[in-house]
Amino acid sequence: MAKDSTRSVHGTEENDRETGSVTTPIYQTVTFGFRTAEAVEKAVKGESGGFVYSRWDNPTIRILERKLADLEGGQSSLFFSSGMAAITTSVMSLVRKGDHVLATSDLYGETYRLMRDFLPGFGVRTTLVDTTDLQSMRKGMRENTKVVYIETPTNPTLKLVDIREAAKIAHSVGALLLVDSTFASPFGQKPLALGADLVLHSATKYLNGHSDVTAGAVVGGRERVLTIKKMRTMLGGTLDPHAAFLILRGIKTLSIRMQRHNESAMALARFLRSHDRVAKVNYPGLEDHPQHELAARQMKGYGGMLSFELKGSMKEAIRFTESLKISTLGGSLGAVETLVVQPASMTHTQLSVQDRKRTGISDTLIRVSVGIEDSDDLIEDFSQALKKLR
Ligand SMILES: Cc1ncc(COP(=O)(O)O)c(C=O)c1O
Repeated sequence: MAKDSTRSVHGTEENDRETGSVTTPIYQTVTFGFRTAEAVEKAVKGESGGFVYSRWDNPTIRILERKLADLEGGQSSLFFSSGMAAITTSVMSLVRKGDHVLATSDLYGETYRLMRDFLPGFGVRTTLVDTTDLQSMRKGMRENTKVVYIETPTNPTLKLVDIREAAKIAHSVGALLLVDSTFASPFGQKPLALGADLVLHSATKYLNGHSDVTAGAVVGGRERVLTIKKMRTMLGGTLDPHAAFLILRGIKTLSIRMQRHNESAMALARFLRSHDRVAKVNYPGLEDHPQHELAARQMKGYGGMLSFELKGSMKEAIRFTESLKISTLGGSLGAVETLVVQPASMTHTQLSVQDRKRTGISDTLIRVSVGIEDSDDLIEDFSQALKKLR
């Protein structure tokens, strides 16, 4: 089989059959016309593979879905109008009143709210545990657990979950393992090959990579994805065809972007670790990361995300983020430009001080999504902002 970088350029995406266009056309249409009522019926019943209505299915989106399924090593994939649409639609299609869900305790904020507030409101019990600890995972499982939901690496403390072991734990009671693999991208890890049942992405991040599209995706086995597709058709969080075109374009450069993200994040992590104003650096690529061995086994490259703790006060941490010149102080991640946030005052304000402490989000923690700028320039930028603290 061709390598990932070749498949991200070509893969299942062929030149347009009618015109030879090397880029996939944007089928910017709501609906599709038919010659006969019989053809309509067959398409509606899914017997002809034809398109009916773009909330159900669309040619540009279908080409994108095949491409991601191929890159993740899954049979099928679905795209959504946001990462959260992918997550909520997938989880809701798999659980019913009376079921139980086990999930990582330091999930992305909105996913955390889905687990803590929303699902219990519909009679689905949820348990949030530290999934880096396999023993607490095992303890949290119940007979009626239907879904085990993990993120790895986690946001913003870059902890890892052992996907292979998590799959064994989930499958021991017949539950499915869902992995949010946004931070790693399909180039950083292949959860399905490690036993996961479904992989989720905020395609807003690395897959598209240019901070200009909000999108999400799920990948897995054909039947399961078909079930989620019925829920997507009903809830309506389908992607727009033009956004699908942009993500197809983004994926073509994913391998070289990820290479650069990996290299620059490693260089910046090493610089920060050697700086006397930095108390701690969280990056799975550093030999002293507590799960470095797992990262080396489970991931290919260590990704473009890191976080670090400054020595000093919250005020100083904020001053640092405001002093950066190349890097942008702003949310989101996985883009060509370096983005920096201070979670305690920006992205994780919904957590209590105790919860923040428990998950390792100190007042001086800074999360960095390392972009593809020259790494020497980034180091220089961080260096000058650190000097302003003296
Ligand atoms: C790990 C992770 N999962 C899911 C999401 C949600 O994605 P979106 O913003 O595309 O809805 C995010 C957003 O930052 C994220 O970081």
